[in-house]
Amino acid sequence: MNNVHLIDHPLVQHKLTLMRRKDASTRTFRTLLNELSSLMAYEVTRDMPLQAVEIETPLETMTSNVIDGKKLVFVSILRAGNGILEGMLNVVPGARVGHVGLYRDPETLEPVEYYFKMPQEMAERDVVIVDPMLATGNSAIAAISRIKQLKPKSIKFVCLLTCPEGIAALQKAHPDVPIYTAAIDRQLNEHGYILPGLGDAGDRIYGTK
Ligand code: URA
Repeated sequence: MNNVHLIDHPLVQHKLTLMRRKDASTRTFRTLLNELSSLMAYEVTRDMPLQAVEIETPLETMTSNVIDGKKLVFVSILRAGNGILEGMLNVVPGARVGHVGLYRDPETLEPVEYYFKMPQEMAERDVVIVDPMLATGNSAIAAISRIKQLKPKSIKFVCLLTCPEGIAALQKAHPDVPIYTAAIDRQLNEHGYILPGLGDAGDRIYGTK
């Protein structure tokens, strides 16, 4: 599938399976999500540009690489996005963080924005938007449209799980945005949940159900 990166690393797949199980505790789910997100961060940052700089080791001067440009921005789609955010920050601790608050209207399943806060100088930054579930795609589409108004250098979207409907919707609205996911599940149900999925990601992270 074009512009969809399926992260099939055995550690990612193993942890995802443990998270899907309905008897995984809140603590287990959160720990696994944190670990899995750190692993996904490696894949998502794989093509970050490097810049050669001169440094001094205790023995010699040498030219070595550092990441080029302004700090990366992770944007969490609240609230479930925060579960991925923490794991990503373990790997890129200097990243800037933005938050988009969207809730899903239970009737229309359409997103309604209630919070939006981004770092400065977005036009010079690469953005990675995180949300565990790309289901109907409505929240992701709305978040990306809003962030595009700030004209960042690039945008990537990272989720744990998605489905054909979510991919199709996001790619129709934003074909330029690559999707990184650990699994593409069978389908959406009539309530906008992914099947077989893992349930409500926010509830499972925070133990709210
Ligand atoms: N959001 C979730 O948390 N789970 C789904 O299956 C779909 C959307």
